[in-house]
Amino acid sequence: MNKVVLITGGASGIGWAAAQGFAAEGARVAIADLQVNTAQQHAMSLGAEHLGLGGDVSDEEQVAMLLERTLDRYGRIDVLINSAGIPDSFAPTVEQDVAAFRRLIDIHLTGSYMMSKGAAKTMLHQGKGAIINLSSIAGVLGLPLRNAYSAAKAGISMMTRTMGCEWAAGGVRVNAIAPGYMLTPFSRKLISEGKLDADRLRRRTPAGRLGTARHIADAMLFLASDRAEFITGVTLPVDGGYMAFGAASDAYGGPLDAIVGMTDELQ
Ligand SMILES: NC(=O)c1ccc[n+]([C@@H]2O[C@H](COP(=O)([O-])OP(=O)(O)OC[C@H]3O[C@@H](n4cnc5c(N)ncnc54)[C@H](O)[C@@H]3O)[C@@H](O)[C@H]2O)c1
Repeated sequence: MNKVVLITGGASGIGWAAAQGFAAEGARVAIADLQVNTAQQHAMSLGAEHLGLGGDVSDEEQVAMLLERTLDRYGRIDVLINSAGIPDSFAPTVEQDVAAFRRLIDIHLTGSYMMSKGAAKTMLHQGKGAIINLSSIAGVLGLPLRNAYSAAKAGISMMTRTMGCEWAAGGVRVNAIAPGYMLTPFSRKLISEGKLDADRLRRRTPAGRLGTARHIADAMLFLASDRAEFITGVTLPVDGGYMAFGAASDAYGGPLDAIVGMTDELQ
């Protein structure tokens, strides 16, 4: 693969697994993240042909800078992955902070919008490109206490459709992935804070386990490839069957393995 892949949120979790997955297939990867040091260290660890950038996807000028620096270095952008994100507050709605609601929408929804809009200008000029957004099961199912996150994720899935339709004839495909519960720093923190219950989640997941960032990266490699040439505007669940399940019982009754130190070799 001789592609240039720009990944927001690439310093951690799903974005970092994607960076490793694409680099392993020969892509040149620009890792963009608020955590500039980690982004640069990760890029260096992949090799000198990769780039680490610091920037906030909720800031229009910084979005422009991230796109410009990627273009300055590589002259093109073949794949954009919008993986930057933060969790919701998990506070009861009546106690939620409006500023936190706005911040979350700004990062997830407006950030994905601005990055996609900017990258698409280049991709449409190239006549080819693939954008992959991060939605969630929270964008489809009602998860109490997670208003901003869920609204942002539902918005991302809808924006995936609108942009996918708008740019299809120009060779630019836009798809989203809706992860279930994946073991990343994002979810590990929520589990350790008692906001998510790993055992209950595994009982509710037909596969009986949490996913890994690598599961999402593998789906991204497919969606970015020519094997997905006629796929645009979709949100692909990668969730061990979570959203397919609707019975009034546990989805999984087998043994639950210990989550060793809650670590994931890809983090
Ligand atoms: N882990 C899961 O179970 C899960 C499930 C569904 C959806 N998702 C989504 O996948 C995406 C990645 O999640 P993850 O689990 O890898 O999380 P993570 O916390 O491991 O990584 C997110 C990265 O985004 C960066 N980031 C946050 N705000 C940013 C900003 N304003 N600008 C630039 N970078 C910013 C963080 O610094 C971090 O490196 C998120 O959009 C998340 O909502 C995750």
